[in-house]
Amino acid sequence: MTGTAEMVAQELELTFGDDDTEIVVTPMDNLGPEVFDGDEIYLICTSTYGQGDVPDNGKPLYDALRAQRPDLSAVRYGVIGLGDNTYTDTFNFGGQKFDELLAELGARRIGERARLDSAGGQMPEDLALEWMPGWLELARAA
Ligand SMILES: Cc1cc2nc3c(=O)[nH]c(=O)nc-3n(C[C@H](O)[C@H](O)[C@H](O)COP(=O)(O)O)c2cc1C
Repeated sequence: MTGTAEMVAQELELTFGDDDTEIVVTPMDNLGPEVFDGDEIYLICTSTYGQGDVPDNGKPLYDALRAQRPDLSAVRYGVIGLGDNTYTDTFNFGGQKFDELLAELGARRIGERARLDSAGGQMPEDLALEWMPGWLELARAA
């Protein structure tokens, strides 16, 4: 909504993308469930808004997945959730919602979900840079 998740994704692409690891950042705007038809590994990077909702530009994809319920059993994914823990009741729900829905549709998560906190004193992109190497190692082994 204000560019933080996109910045985090771009930072990860710049830092970890190389000849061995192709990283492509794709904004969720206007994506449909067919985005999961490829055989790459997906890393969902999403903030939280409203009453613990996914951000506006992720809603069409989230809603279409819920409505169409495609079989995602061939899909492997990770989740980077962005949030602010002063929203105590809905902290990081955006990432959690995508995680739960993808799992419900049969997709297999790699590693633990990153739950980045904008209110914790560290920048979300720095937290993501710390989290990413461990996840990449698991993704490469998957
Ligand atoms: C109006 C508003 C509502 C928010 N609601 C939540 C929330 O319910 N839970 C949460 O963890 N973070 C919440 N946040 C924090 C954002 O998810 C966090 O600041 C995030 O880094 C923003 O990323 P973005 O710039 O990519 O949208 C909210 C922020 C705003 C401005």
